[in-house]
Amino acid sequence: MKTILDFLKAKEEGKKITMVSTYDYWSARICEEAGVDCILVGDSLGMVVQGLETTLPVSLEEMIYHSKAVRRGAKDTFIVVDMPFLTYQVSVEDAVANAGRILKETGANAVKIEGGEEVATVVKKLVSAGIPVMGHIGLTPQSVHALGGYRVQGRTHEEQKRIIKDAKILEQSGVFAVVLEAVPSKLAKEITEFLEVPTIGIGAGKYTDGQVLVFHDLLGFFDKSPKFVKRYLEGKKLFLQALEKFKEEVENQQFPDEEHTYG
Ligand code: KIV
Repeated sequence: MKTILDFLKAKEEGKKITMVSTYDYWSARICEEAGVDCILVGDSLGMVVQGLETTLPVSLEEMIYHSKAVRRGAKDTFIVVDMPFLTYQVSVEDAVANAGRILKETGANAVKIEGGEEVATVVKKLVSAGIPVMGHIGLTPQSVHALGGYRVQGRTHEEQKRIIKDAKILEQSGVFAVVLEAVPSKLAKEITEFLEVPTIGIGAGKYTDGQVLVFHDLLGFFDKSPKFVKRYLEGKKLFLQALEKFKEEVENQQFPDEEHTYG
């Protein structure tokens, strides 16, 4: 299994890091088989699995439930778990207790938290408790209402200055990697060049040290994809065809046939 040192080494050697957000046993197994470097049990599960509008309602219990299943499917892969909204912002004590539960109960290797300067104290405390932390700046979905929607961050000079400052503070606070979400490629390049820890981009262009996509997005399970998603499969189309065929064959009494029947 990879460690945080392997991710630092990958950056030094210019080897790109792959991370996939996924939420269950089966998809984790296939990610491990494909050799994905790191699995993120993202709180995007609120939208992808639960059909919610935002990630805000996702609970710690739900993250733990999904992360346990992911660990069973990917025994040898580095797993990062998102700390859900309000499990690390209320107090540092809460943050340590909640992150501790995630690592102890799921067998995951690290947690991810959203934010910059405002989470620096929490990052330091978690790291000093022996919990590796991945940062997440740019578009931070747990702050969707404060940001005024899901929109690209870092377009103005002010926003750029803030994101750069946040990246530096996160590194000084001890994160082992930083997710950069929905920022212009030029800004992601600049941050990637001055940080010693790796950057993992999503909608942040090609210069980051690694890339993360959601499993269901990259396999085309939804009708529409945002601009930054490349669909490596038309998954929904294939699943739909198969399900329609099943229905047709049951109705026509073609299934089950001899081959699929016990004598
Ligand atoms: O929740 C998630 O899946 C994420 C990634 C998209 C970075 O935070």
